[in-house]
Amino acid sequence: MTDPVISADALHVSVGNKTILKNVSFTARRGEVLALLGGNGAGKSTTIKTFLGLMTPSAGTANLLGQNVQLQPDIVRQKVAYLPESVMLYGHLNAVENIRYFLSLAGKEKTDDDIALALKKVALQPHAWQTRLQSYSKGMRQKTAIALALLRDAPILFLDEPTSGLDPVAIDEFNGLISQLASQGATILMVTHDIYGACHVANRIGLLRHGELVGMFDAPQDGNIDAEVVHQAFTQGLK
Ligand SMILES: Nc1ncnc2c1ncn2[C@@H]1O[C@H](COP(=O)(O)OP(=O)(O)O)[C@@H](O)[C@H]1O
Ligand SMILES: [Mg+2]
Repeated sequence: MTDPVISADALHVSVGNKTILKNVSFTARRGEVLALLGGNGAGKSTTIKTFLGLMTPSAGTANLLGQNVQLQPDIVRQKVAYLPESVMLYGHLNAVENIRYFLSLAGKEKTDDDIALALKKVALQPHAWQTRLQSYSKGMRQKTAIALALLRDAPILFLDEPTSGLDPVAIDEFNGLISQLASQGATILMVTHDIYGACHVANRIGLLRHGELVGMFDAPQDGNIDAEVVHQAFTQGLK
């Protein structure tokens, strides 16, 4: 067994005297997709922000490749690509210009061919490459953001509700892309409230409720996690 790439070890996060995460532990190994499911306010985004070093745990540790992100913040810059809940790209720039701009901020040099390859990989239609993002659908923006994440060559991806607002076809495409990235060795933590999609792509699903992990489901060898079982657990106690 290899060491986990992503591991939360008894994480507690509070803001003021409000506890937001309580004793949260999970791991994901290289090439795995871990999905955290939970309703609004469950603590999903807080979990990601803690791994990005944007929130400080009051106890426990968030570790990437065996390094505590609080003590080794460089690991985040070097190894992580993050897709926030609302994609931060510029409407007045086209896909290629956006990618170029954000890569330059990250200090990455990529050729036109590299960028074209990434846009092809995410299946953004070539006729859109030179179109300003303001006329893009959410799915097209999301694809652009994923292409950017790919070009950052990050082995670890954090995705915050990447499929919310996408239509079912776009969700399927997105999930296919995630599976493909994982099969190429990326380790992915995505948070979502899409149970069905999570069961499709995830090797492991953690269920967050009021800041606590109340369930953990592992995919069987070469199979998917049973959406019905997760749905039951998700809605249990909420009705
Ligand atoms: N900076 C903050 N200050 C105060 N409360 C916060 C802060 N960030 C998150 N929270 C609270 O923590 C809880 C979890 O938030 P969040 O992680 O954004 O949930 P989710 O992403 O699952 O919807 C919510 O009750 C939210 O109001
Ligand atoms: Mg959130």
